[in-house]
Amino acid sequence: MKDLLRIADLTAGDLARLLRLTAWFADNPYGSEGLLRHRTVVLYFAKPSTRTRVSTETAVVRLGGTPISVGPGELQLGRGETIADTARVLSSYASAIVIRTFADAEVRELAAAAEIPVVNALTDGHHPLQAIADLFTLQERFTTLRGRRIAYVGAGNNVTHSLMEAAALSGMDIAVATPPGYEPADDVVAFTAEEIERHGGRLLLTHDPAEAVKEASAVYTDVWLSMGDPGEERERRAADLRPYRVDAGLMAQARDDAVFLHCLPAHRGEEVSADVIDGPRSAVFRQAANRLPVAQAVLYALLQGLLEGAR
Ligand code: CP
Ligand code: NVA
Repeated sequence: MKDLLRIADLTAGDLARLLRLTAWFADNPYGSEGLLRHRTVVLYFAKPSTRTRVSTETAVVRLGGTPISVGPGELQLGRGETIADTARVLSSYASAIVIRTFADAEVRELAAAAEIPVVNALTDGHHPLQAIADLFTLQERFTTLRGRRIAYVGAGNNVTHSLMEAAALSGMDIAVATPPGYEPADDVVAFTAEEIERHGGRLLLTHDPAEAVKEASAVYTDVWLSMGDPGEERERRAADLRPYRVDAGLMAQARDDAVFLHCLPAHRGEEVSADVIDGPRSAVFRQAANRLPVAQAVLYALLQGLLEGAR
């Protein structure tokens, strides 16, 4: 397996291997510092980023390499050079490309033309690095994932998709509560349903937040308006999503040991109340911190050819 474009690219064994590698890098932050010696990794971010960009740059440095971060205005890509030509040229200099952009098709095109690993650092459809950190955070808390329920409450989006795919591969139960019209994409639901069946979990798709969080060990939400969503939808989305805010009342309906998760950045008073995200059940800063060993683990696994790949 050369690239990580979405969680569904992984086998269940690959995901388990990445979680084990993440644990190893969390314990050995400067382990494998010779891997990228004298080598570079190109990071191309067409959308803003705090966690993904800084954790990935730091991961490259910890693996002994040099990150080269570029924005859309800095490459000839912005002046019409094709994605395929860009991929071929970068492949002759760098060891990997990490890309955050809009359409998933662009990242697939880049990966198809690149000879080096390509990692999706968030697209409109997927956020695989985030989901690996989410599961690792839950594994740190609960030791085993199998049989635990994770409830996602809010707008179906890239974070929801990767979380669903990762939870399914890990044998977790997943419950997703969205307003009508905000459901996760059909292909993600199909993959999740198939994998959940194979790994012994359960999938619930509902419009009722209370039904989703019942028996949940984790309650997860994300922003109501993602990067790239049309700004003029803000008010309509806020009206539709207000009943899906995660507050203390909703958390009280989950298991007593349930944690609150959010990929960040968060909007207190919108998708989550301040008392929940800043309260004792919140694991959001642990989640954010875990993005660093995940980035190390993913780069290491791809560069060492350790992943089998699902197709
Ligand atoms: N969670 C996450 O990916 O954050 P950034 O947008 O800051 O990278
Ligand atoms: N769904 C959000 C996640 C940000 C990390 C977005 O795409 O903007």
